[in-house]
Amino acid sequence: MQNLEKETAFASKYLSQIAKKAEIKFNEHLPPSTDVPKNLHEAMRYSMFAGGKRLRPGLAYAAFELFGGKDESIWYATSALEMLHTFSLIHDDLPCIDNDDYRRGKETAHKKFGEGTAVLAGDALCILAFELIAQTEKNKPIQTLAKALGSYGMIGGEITDIECEGKKVDLATVDYIHYHKTAALIEASLMIGAQMADASEKDVLTVQRFGKAIGLAFQVVDDILDIVSTTEELGKDAGSDEEKGKATYPAVIGLEASRQKAFDLYKEAIAVLKELPGDTSVLQSIAAFIITRVN
Ligand code: IPE
Ligand code: IPE
Ligand code: MG
Ligand code: MG
Ligand code: MG
Repeated sequence: MQNLEKETAFASKYLSQIAKKAEIKFNEHLPPSTDVPKNLHEAMRYSMFAGGKRLRPGLAYAAFELFGGKDESIWYATSALEMLHTFSLIHDDLPCIDNDDYRRGKETAHKKFGEGTAVLAGDALCILAFELIAQTEKNKPIQTLAKALGSYGMIGGEITDIECEGKKVDLATVDYIHYHKTAALIEASLMIGAQMADASEKDVLTVQRFGKAIGLAFQVVDDILDIVSTTEELGKDAGSDEEKGKATYPAVIGLEASRQKAFDLYKEAIAVLKELPGDTSVLQSIAAFIITRVN
């Protein structure tokens, strides 16, 4: 346990260092709110700068560094990843999906700007993300992103999540939802970092397996925090899953078994790291951060 705490502290520091640089680039890559259509640009900036752990840029950068990446164009990829994640959050919070009021410690985009603007700000972030990733002049990251987000990825998970509301579901269905709605983009973040550093196909597949395990662990912990934490601590509506009868791990296997599941996935992820070349201690510490995080 003590090691997990130490590693979490190390990862928090690493992630905030990368976030600082990544956020300078978000500001450069986002349209100024003085440009027409001003309200849309303001909404895009509002959600992007409302806060957030910046985990996906951090994971991409850690994989990029592991494979000796140097090219500055990695910052196009980190902006694209955070924009896509933010787009997914704006749409996830909408009245027609999860109907939540708080996100990143502030009002959700639709509460602040209205539903139409929130939908369109999400759309615009998604499209800008692809413009930015194309600037890397690499093909693979574009394909990786599109696959992770489409109907076989995040959006597939989101639709199944809402279709299963209020229904009794089995563990395989929760696995499907969680893998697609959350793990797919986490996995893609790591793969893109590796692809940006020209890692071998074999190594990209190995980081993908690491990403799948920590990505699932991330969503299991998200489900747990929805129950045990508060809106204040989370910066988003606590208790939202139970209220809507969401298909979550705690709902299907209980809280204790969910905690064990997150820890087992962490151990699985650490075992995968042994197959990678170089110093994987940063990725190992981020895995610890994921299962011990409090928001
Ligand atoms: C929240 O993601 C949505 C899920 C995939 C569970 P994060 O917990 O990474 O949200 P931010 O970026 O820190 O706000
Ligand atoms: C959302 O899962 C995953 C995506 C945003 C794609 P949740 O609905 O559990 O995320 P939170 O709890 O609202 O952040
Ligand atoms: Mg949701
Ligand atoms: Mg939600
Ligand atoms: Mg949740």
